[in-house]
Amino acid sequence: VAKPAARTIDWVDDAIVAIDQTLLPGDEVYLQIRDVETLAEAIRTLRIRGAMGLGVAGGLGVALAIRRAQEAGADPVRAAADAADVLARTRPTAANLFRGIERVHAAVADGPDAAVATAVELIAEDVAANTAIGERGADLLGELLAGGRETFVALTHCNAGALAGVDVGTALGVIAALHHRGRVGEVLACETRPLLQGARLTCWELARLGVNHSLIVDSAAAGLVGRGEIDFVVVGADRIAANGDVANKVGTFSHALAAQYAGIPFLVAAPEMTIDAGCPDGSSIPIEERAADEVTQFAGVSTAPPGVRARNPAFDVTPAELVTAIVTERRVIRTAAGERAAPSRERIPVA
Ligand code: MRU
Repeated sequence: VAKPAARTIDWVDDAIVAIDQTLLPGDEVYLQIRDVETLAEAIRTLRIRGAMGLGVAGGLGVALAIRRAQEAGADPVRAAADAADVLARTRPTAANLFRGIERVHAAVADGPDAAVATAVELIAEDVAANTAIGERGADLLGELLAGGRETFVALTHCNAGALAGVDVGTALGVIAALHHRGRVGEVLACETRPLLQGARLTCWELARLGVNHSLIVDSAAAGLVGRGEIDFVVVGADRIAANGDVANKVGTFSHALAAQYAGIPFLVAAPEMTIDAGCPDGSSIPIEERAADEVTQFAGVSTAPPGVRARNPAFDVTPAELVTAIVTERRVIRTAAGERAAPSRERIPVA
């Protein structure tokens, strides 16, 4: 099986059907969600997650509210506005969530059925965008790594695969396209503390894609990059600022620093929808802080002294100058900052 049995998120009989990502890799269970509150809870608890998946969920959530209001003889315009408000307060960082909500909410002006149709369009658009990103990213890597070996070792972080969208991923879309070209030797997947999207989800997907892969702890990545064991890094994005700074799952910035040190490409794969022209740079991207117990516990068991304070930022910002290129469904963006920062391997003598 090359992909999950069904789409990660879909619209069936006026309801959302989505795989429960908190149960993977153990159980493949699909949720049927018919109301906005249940959807909001599924988003907050990461049953539904990933930037592209959140964009689709946001739009479909507004559609859910419209359909339930129509069935109850209530005002669908009011219901759509209320749903947009509730869903926009579930998670702050992924730009796609807000884009999906806004797009469907704006379409209410053309009538409730037009808004539902707009929401359903988001599903096919996500598949098309990510398919294009995968091919373009594989082309770019072919150029960047030309003259080297036939197959490459990639590093990725968190889960930017089919599970982060509808049924094709961004970073894993690039890896899948490269794999189909016979050019992937191995993928090293970072486990991605604290919620283990890399261990639980990315490894599950890579196995289904038939890609040779190994799981590593996040802190092993820099050492392996520094030892020359990795040819490129590819990650997704949750929000990209106008200057090219990239917010992605916490830990991404460290991989970018290591990639610069080693002089290997650091690629970001994301749809245009992830770019937020309203954020001039990374400092204006809202970074989600999640509950401390995600850090102080492991699989429900306390791993720190009782009462210890913990910080749990879910994302970090990689400055544009560390990004070799951003690949979208329309273009390859090489920021001016990225062009300036040619990696240097010069050593300063200390003795
Ligand atoms: O907290 P999540 O699981 O919703 O985080 C999002 C991510 O999976 C990553 O940051 C990813 O690289 C961007 S989504 C393609």
